[in-house]
Amino acid sequence: MKITKTLILLLALGLATTASASSLEKMGAKQGRSFHQMNYDQGCKSCHDQGMRQPPSDGQCLVCHDKTDLIEATSEQKKKWMNPHNNMHYGDKVPCIECHGEHKAKAPLCADCHNFDFDGFQQD
Ligand code: HEC
Ligand code: HEC
Ligand code: HEC
Ligand code: HEC
Repeated sequence: MKITKTLILLLALGLATTASASSLEKMGAKQGRSFHQMNYDQGCKSCHDQGMRQPPSDGQCLVCHDKTDLIEATSEQKKKWMNPHNNMHYGDKVPCIECHGEHKAKAPLCADCHNFDFDGFQQD
């Protein structure tokens, strides 16, 4: 019964055939990233090291993500200093959440001024 209702709702909204590619999904009480399922299983504090009223610190993201690996993973840009994790203006010093949105869509900071094509960016 519940499934049928959901399906009817999806059809009504015209969403049933156009499955969204966004990684933003309902993760328990909040919208969150499906690739962070493990974090939600462990609880909100697996990210929220500064209490629930503050966004997580970069240090907490880096408990699981290695800075050197990140720089390496996104080094294949058209120009060397286009690397979002180590770029000509700010080096590797931009806080993660200037670009990565956990509970909401976000565009990389660079998009304020450039129209770089970051193909692997999953923050819509
Ligand atoms: C408890 C460990 C953990 C913490 C803390 C964590 N992540 Fe993740 N993150 C993961 C895992 C596991 C994945 C999925 C595997 C992967 O793609 O590396 C992931 C995936 C990602 C991805 C997508 C990678 C891709 O393939 O596009 C981004 C972006 C990301 N995390 C950013 C962050 C940011 C920003 C923070 C801090 C707010 C954070 N993560 C905190 C474990 C963590
Ligand atoms: C993967 C890391 C991660 C997990 C897990 C996580 N958060 Fe967050 N949270 C963030 C980040 C990053 C922000 C900063 C705003 C943003 O990017 O959405 C944030 C912001 C918030 C905010 C500030 C207002 C807002 O919505 O932007 C609240 C409230 C919040 N989180 C609650 C939660 C709750 C409740 C959970 C557990 C169900 C949770 N968070 C799990 C990373 C996380
Ligand atoms: C506040 C505006 C602003 C932001 C934000 C910004 N840039 Fe720039 N950027 C400029 C200006 C101005 C120049 C110099 C003019 C030019 O060559 O386009 C420039 C030049 C560049 C160049 C060399 C020229 C080119 O277009 O290839 C690179 C590479 C670059 N920026 C990368 C980045 C990256 C990566 C980010 C995000 C981390 C970023 N920028 C964020 C304004 C900005
Ligand atoms: C200036 C913007 C910016 C900042 C700051 C930033 N990122 Fe990213 N990140 C990106 C973009 C853009 C991509 C996708 C690049 C591409 O593949 O085209 C990305 C990709 C990733 C990925 C996937 C890498 C892979 O294996 O493909 C992870 C994980 C990630 N970021 C985590 C982080 C963490 C953790 C921080 C903070 C230490 C951080 N990012 C800071 C813009 C940023």
